[in-house]
Amino acid sequence: MKKVFPKDFLWGAAASAPQTEGASTIDGKAPTIWDHWFETEPERFWGEIGPAETSRFYEMYPEEIDNMKKINMNSYRTSISWARLLPDGKTVNPKAKDFYNRVIDKQLAEGIEPLMNLFHFDMPMLMQEKGGWESREVVEAYQFYAETCFELFGDRVKKWFTFNEPIVVVECGYLYQFHYPCVVDMKRAVQVAFNTALASAKAIKSYHEAKLDGQIGIILNLTPSYPRSEDKEDVAAANLVDLLFNRSFLDPAVKGTYPQELIDFIQAKDLMPTYGESDLTCIAENTIDILGVNYYQPRRIQKRETPVDPNEAIMPEHFYENYEWPERVMNPHRGWEIYPKGIYDIAVNIKENYGNIPWYISENGMGVEGEEKFLKDGMIQDDYRIEFVGDHLSYLHQAIEEGANCFGYHMWTFADCWSWLNTYKNRYGYYQVDLADKAARHVKKSGLWMSQVMKENTLET
Ligand code: BG6
Repeated sequence: MKKVFPKDFLWGAAASAPQTEGASTIDGKAPTIWDHWFETEPERFWGEIGPAETSRFYEMYPEEIDNMKKINMNSYRTSISWARLLPDGKTVNPKAKDFYNRVIDKQLAEGIEPLMNLFHFDMPMLMQEKGGWESREVVEAYQFYAETCFELFGDRVKKWFTFNEPIVVVECGYLYQFHYPCVVDMKRAVQVAFNTALASAKAIKSYHEAKLDGQIGIILNLTPSYPRSEDKEDVAAANLVDLLFNRSFLDPAVKGTYPQELIDFIQAKDLMPTYGESDLTCIAENTIDILGVNYYQPRRIQKRETPVDPNEAIMPEHFYENYEWPERVMNPHRGWEIYPKGIYDIAVNIKENYGNIPWYISENGMGVEGEEKFLKDGMIQDDYRIEFVGDHLSYLHQAIEEGANCFGYHMWTFADCWSWLNTYKNRYGYYQVDLADKAARHVKKSGLWMSQVMKENTLET
């Protein structure tokens, strides 16, 4: 069966500056939290591979963009590095400006629309020292950085994003110690969440005021939260997870307001952030034009059954437990659930509850550990990824047929890339990157398969 996607559908892949550029200490770039953390605790990073050892986009971007074209991508999302563009937080680094100009111009010359994100977990160390996202000064500095990007590149970039997965900064940096500064404190986490939502609204305000004839949004990792049963307490637990991890950003971004149930919960637990009335007005008045949705896996939730130690500091999971759905299908190469229908459920939710705002799949993909073992005849034979992407695209197509306002699908990622503490453990790319020779690129079977889908704008099932 032929499943034809809408005209002008965006096909491509996503990545980010800190995960691909490399060149992390040259041409005037200042350190980020990742450079700093690797320098101080390299043993935390898989294989002790640091942020300098990425897939070398800084020097290889022309070949990379040619490779994108070879597989018929018509769009690519990456991010700008704040620490590269404004090393002292105030002055434009001419080499960075020149680099991003060349990347954008090359993409446009090849017919690959640049979608640009402003923040992908890569807080400049200078800003972290000022308090990171807990600090109002950093919120203001970020707005200045955003304005600088719009001024320099906004004539050619027509789709902007303020943040990628801001909830991950909150979770990993302030609750679960997967990102620097490794704080474990729910009240501080709530402050970080509020300040990033505010920073996003401020950047949107600046963008709209600049009247640049483009659109701006945010990229959220939405994880549908399914209760174990119809039982009231299971449903309430799943609802709370949805509030904390999805709606905490989705509602202010699209509707300009926080869900009352979330406010009630935060207030009852004495976790309210510091804010002013004008902050709420700013969030209310500066909502997004477009939404990016990263979808990997859902959450299966039940009520909390294990008693909580009363001496333990409050954490989100004190109010729910993860549940192992007996019918779940697991990715055997990484341990995440594979649930393609989740993409359809997200589409329905956006249509029914968020005014059917224009959105796209900004990330979807299958991480595979030890993928070299699938190398045969010089190519990674990743049939599992073809099945994964095909199943997700089928559900996405169905949702579009039923009226979902979805304008594209990007896979994570174009070429295997460095990923935070996991570095190169899980591979995701259309192209394989060889650790021994990071300049070499070999297209995977999925890349070839996808090049047909992208060329024909059609999925054959
Ligand atoms: C996405 C992030 O959620 O997951 C990426 O936006 C990240 O930055 C990707 O690299 C894969 O993560 P992991 O942990 O499987 O390497």
